[in-house]
Amino acid sequence: MLLDPGMNLTLRPMKYPDFYEQYRAAIRNTWTVEEVDLASDLADLAKFTPQEQHLIHRLVAFFATGDTIVANNLVLNLYQHVNSPEGRLYLSRQLFEEAVHVQFYLTLLDTYLPDPDERAKAFDAVNNIPSIKRKADFCFKWIDEVFDMQELKTGEDRRKFLLNLICFAACIEGLFFYGAFAYVYWLRSRGLLDGLATGTNWVFRDESCHMNFAFSVVDVVRQEEPELFDDEMRRQVTAMLEEAVDAELQFAEDLIGEGMPGMTVADMRSYLEYAADQRLVRLGMPKRWESANPFPFMALQDVQELTNFFERRPTAYQVAVEGKVDLDEEF
Ligand SMILES: [Fe+2]
Ligand SMILES: [Fe+2]
Repeated sequence: MLLDPGMNLTLRPMKYPDFYEQYRAAIRNTWTVEEVDLASDLADLAKFTPQEQHLIHRLVAFFATGDTIVANNLVLNLYQHVNSPEGRLYLSRQLFEEAVHVQFYLTLLDTYLPDPDERAKAFDAVNNIPSIKRKADFCFKWIDEVFDMQELKTGEDRRKFLLNLICFAACIEGLFFYGAFAYVYWLRSRGLLDGLATGTNWVFRDESCHMNFAFSVVDVVRQEEPELFDDEMRRQVTAMLEEAVDAELQFAEDLIGEGMPGMTVADMRSYLEYAADQRLVRLGMPKRWESANPFPFMALQDVQELTNFFERRPTAYQVAVEGKVDLDEEF
């Protein structure tokens, strides 16, 4: 079984070919930070109101460390316990993508925050900005839950591991990052920060794939060990998502306070609840909120991403059309 302890090396016969196909699809989505032109954003930033400047500074401070935390959990926990060589191929590729994301946000902060003190403060946000510290602490709590486990021997160990996996996919990549991307697309809907939006398109597509891979691991484990998915698991996953929505709402209050045109804390609440419900449905669990998506710019995301992908990446075109470009259908 997938979560049995060990170091399975057998690629043929291949037990989980879907993992291998996801790895191959990810290779077709290769992009580099050098393809993103952030210089064009500087003119927009110079015109920002103090309120808008506050928002973008907080947002990039979250981006400064988010993907590094995800990469650490991948290496320390996911790679160790997903005992399938084709599954580990996918995770190796994901680790590379997280490195590209870290590099993208490093470049973003270097460009947006020319003052070294301000930049250092942004990279230290997990310690000095309460709304970002709260989200980081949430991640660390779920890393700590499994950090000492060398092997998943018992059902209890496997439940703990599944909660860590689901936390990083549904709450961190699928909620904290999606929430952050919503601010980027809201700015783009007003004609602002096109460079950031371009890089975000590619990060967004990668994150959707990471989430889908984690959920496909959950699907396999559910087939192999259905007894792990009981009422207690449903209760824990729902409570975890509730906590993540709360943490992300505190971040929203910090970023937009009394609100801005087309983006209020109430709108963000609906969006986060909508997204969290999508994660529950994907996990085969009942919805918790039944909220609607109030952000048309997020619903349009799939179409714009595709246009952008083909318009701005002529060199990658031939690689890209070889197979289908994977997009997340549910935002
Ligand atoms: Fe990432
Ligand atoms: Fe990711």
